[in-house]
Amino acid sequence: MIENKVAIITGGANGIGLATSLLFNNLGAKVIVLDNATNLKSIKNKILKKGVNIDFYKVDTSKIHLVKNKMRIIEKKYNKIDILVLNAAICPFKEFLKIDEKIFDDVVNTNQKGSFFLAQHVSKIMVKKKIRGKIVFLSSVSSIFGGSLQAHYCATKGAINQIMKSMAISLGKYNINVNAILPGTVITNLNRKQLEKNIKLKKYFINRTPLKRLISPDEIAKAILFLSSEMSSGVNGECLVVDGGMTINFQ
Ligand SMILES: NC(=O)c1ccc[n+]([C@@H]2O[C@H](COP(=O)([O-])OP(=O)(O)OC[C@H]3O[C@@H](n4cnc5c(N)ncnc54)[C@H](O)[C@@H]3O)[C@@H](O)[C@H]2O)c1
Repeated sequence: MIENKVAIITGGANGIGLATSLLFNNLGAKVIVLDNATNLKSIKNKILKKGVNIDFYKVDTSKIHLVKNKMRIIEKKYNKIDILVLNAAICPFKEFLKIDEKIFDDVVNTNQKGSFFLAQHVSKIMVKKKIRGKIVFLSSVSSIFGGSLQAHYCATKGAINQIMKSMAISLGKYNINVNAILPGTVITNLNRKQLEKNIKLKKYFINRTPLKRLISPDEIAKAILFLSSEMSSGVNGECLVVDGGMTINFQ
């Protein structure tokens, strides 16, 4: 499916990104992770000890010039990029009335601006090398619905959907597919504290989901795999919700 493909996964050191990196690696892809986790070295050592051969690059993807520098090294070393998964994001939960400019800028620069310019940079490489590329954005059901603690985050995810659709239109003629996954609630470092603090909220999400459980990072990874492989060759500009049905249930 993706054997011998070169895949860049941002935020691949934790949560959904890590599940995707491991799945892609298992299926024979060369996985390159871009992540700025403070404990990246220990995560990397733990993974390498298991015999998993993933390459980690420490970089803050919200800093465009730093990413471009790393990309020069990566392009030289691997020569091609077949798959790009734009997964790195932050969600500092805050009441709308308390969101200051610094938090707003951090969220926009990481979730939206960083993803935009990395996607543009990699697209240029795919076009130049005539690669039938696959680009997958991690959006969210929060791109459709609001949240009292997520006004900044929801805005960036809405923007991601529109960036994705515009890219899909621009890049279709180069045989590059661009799509987005919209996960529902998946327990990861992004929301663990929030959901542990508010057990009622967690139960609400579970009860609202027709499958009566939350979706796992592995289940999101499988949907990312679909959009990263030729299995989805006819899918372009699509927002695929992966939430166990949580957001279709109004009861
Ligand atoms: N967990 C959920 O419920 C949920 C729901 C909907 C959408 N999503 C989306 O899925 C994606 C993955 O989320 P997750 O839950 O796995 O989060 P996570 O916090 O577990 O992992 C995010 C990873 O991104 C990295 N990262 C953050 N900012 C970065 C930066 N500036 N530069 C480089 N790396 C950076 C982190 O170090 C971390 O490894 C995100 O785009 C998120 O918005 C998650």
